[in-house]
Amino acid sequence: MPKAKVTFADNGVTVTVPAGTRLIEVSEQAGAGIVYGCREGDCGACLTQVVSGGENLAEASVLEDETLKNMLARRDQRLACQAQVLGGEIVVNPLT
Ligand code: FES
Repeated sequence: MPKAKVTFADNGVTVTVPAGTRLIEVSEQAGAGIVYGCREGDCGACLTQVVSGGENLAEASVLEDETLKNMLARRDQRLACQAQVLGGEIVVNPLT
C-alpha cells in the first residue's frame, strides 16, 4: 500500500502513514495542533493550510468543496477531517 510522508509546520514532526489516512488522523498521530469539531466536513473548524504537496491529497468531495466555499477559504486550505493523503510528501500548517 502506498505511503505518504506528512510534516506539520507547527511542531516540526514528520510521520509516514498509509494512503487513505485523513489529515486529522495524521495530526493526532503526530501530536500536531489541528483542531476539529464535527469531523464530518460541516463545521470548518479543522481548516488547515497545505504548504506544499497539495497534489498528494485526494480531490475535495462535494461536501468539502461546499464548506470551503462557504468559509471563503483560500486555495491552499483544506478541511483536515476530509482530506485524504494519497502518497508522496505533504507539508501542512495547522496555524492558518
Ligand atoms: S471538523 Fe468539522 S469540518 Fe472538519
